[in-house]
Amino acid sequence: PFVVTESCIQCKYTDCVAVCPMDCFFEGPNFLAINPDECIDCSVCVPECPVNAIIGASEIAEEQKHFVELNRTLSHHPDWKRIKLQQEPLPDHAKWAQVDDKISLLQT
Ligand code: SF4
Ligand code: F3S
Repeated sequence: PFVVTESCIQCKYTDCVAVCPMDCFFEGPNFLAINPDECIDCSVCVPECPVNAIIGASEIAEEQKHFVELNRTLSHHPDWKRIKLQQEPLPDHAKWAQVDDKISLLQT
């Protein structure tokens, strides 16, 4: 499956959800998660993300590997809802798109 990684945090552009044929994106306050059990590996969401946050679980860099489990866990979070329609990105998306280390800011 494909998973959402760190660069999505505080940006949440949501271009990805508009193209997913499985609607398997789930929304939290400042991050999106893919349910990896629903993802069919079509990869159409990958080029849609302006910050290249979506990566194949098998190609993910070692330091981002924990995002695979994190996507699974957060997609089942009781407060996270399935998101199907694109919406405005978070207000400071342009600023946060320049920042690499954002995991401590993840809200669940
Ligand atoms: Fe959806 Fe395809 Fe992206 Fe998986 S790879 S999240 S099925 S668009
Ligand atoms: Fe996040 Fe990129 Fe989608 S920033 S919401 S993975 S388009």
